Amino acid sequence: MSDLSRRNLLSLGVALGLVGVTGVAPALAAPAGADPWWAWDDELDQVMATLLDTGQVPAVNTALRPWVNNNHALPTGLPTALATHLQHANALPAWADRAKLRLAADFNRRKDTYLFMLYGLGSGIMSTVIPREAKSVYWSAGGADMQDRAAKTFTFGYDLSELNAFEPGGQFVVTANKTRLVHAAVRHLLPQSPHWSAVADEQNGIPISNGDILVTFHSLGTFVHRKLVEWRVPMTAAEEDAFLHMWKVAIHLLGVRDEFIPQTWAAADAQAARVLTPILAPSFEGRELAEDLLGLTAQIDLGVTRGFLNEFVRYVLSDAIGDWLGLRRDLAAAALVRTGWPAYIAFREGLLPVMPVGFYMFDQFIRALAMLFLNNASSPTTTVITIPTGNRPG
Ligand code: HEM
Repeated sequence: MSDLSRRNLLSLGVALGLVGVTGVAPALAAPAGADPWWAWDDELDQVMATLLDTGQVPAVNTALRPWVNNNHALPTGLPTALATHLQHANALPAWADRAKLRLAADFNRRKDTYLFMLYGLGSGIMSTVIPREAKSVYWSAGGADMQDRAAKTFTFGYDLSELNAFEPGGQFVVTANKTRLVHAAVRHLLPQSPHWSAVADEQNGIPISNGDILVTFHSLGTFVHRKLVEWRVPMTAAEEDAFLHMWKVAIHLLGVRDEFIPQTWAAADAQAARVLTPILAPSFEGRELAEDLLGLTAQIDLGVTRGFLNEFVRYVLSDAIGDWLGLRRDLAAAALVRTGWPAYIAFREGLLPVMPVGFYMFDQFIRALAMLFLNNASSPTTTVITIPTGNRPG
């Protein structure tokens, strides 16, 4: 994003809700002696590299397939080193608070309308302007079927939001652990891709550091929280705290070291302003990914025009991002979104006595989006997370 002035950068940050309106983006130093951009998942990465190099991953995938629920026993027959890792990693951290996780689940259920919208159209499209993420997703094996890949990525947030996600009968702990295995495999595989190597700028040439995972967390949890605040969606302090707690547990399960995980929303906002906003930029891979994502939504009748969809993305993310992705303007739709969406929220939340114009249109749009994501994406009952054994061929 070298061509963006500090002013543009700040207005982008404000638009995304990641910088306070004063424009002050507080710096947050990494804890002394530790740098999340130089932290990966060393032990697991080593185990996974050996499994890939010795051709054991297809058998591991077969063994892992029936392992789905949090209370399922670990599959038998896994290579010892992997079984040892999972025995240790497949548990909530000691600091996890089940009461908070239950409150977060209830909050997610009550606010699911906005969450669909924000994870799907906000975080999902934002991931395409996070260059490292876009490039690694594009050049990994899954990049060859981008719609499937994209759907999986942007619904992770939704999977996390399932009512029983962290309960014994839920599936999120296992899903997160499988995702951690996939990321470990990607760290070994992508550096072997000439295409990825030609465009990568990662430290040490290894993708998906703890820092990168935090960036993605900010594009999901931190972004969504900021937008809910900005849109004046009623939330109690306990609910906001529970929502953060849920995300803290999630990124712990993905292998981020506890010392790097922000402890408050203020710390998360500050870290996002430092590590996410300044790196947002268009890329060839990101544009392709965005095209596929928005193409996904174009496949069904959302009850709105493509111009409306483009303007909604611009409204949720920013005009700068809309321009990077070449989203065609529709000024009438833009005006409708700007006035209609806040009124829609206010009416839904019981803060507006009269049903606003366009209420049904917004409602239909959201319902159609929810159906689309649920049908296309990895709902917890259908998720099959498979460890890749190669990269996108070209
Ligand atoms: C795979 C989620 C961070 C790159 C996956 C999968 C999930 C996921 C659910 C498995 C999808 C499947 O195959 O079924 C997340 C979450 C993150 C995160 C929740 C952070 C909060 C990142 C980051 C990068 C990344 C930071 C790169 C910079 C990839 C790649 C794959 C993958 C390349 C494998 C694609 C393939 O199948 O070939 N991620 N991810 N992820 N993720 Fe992440």
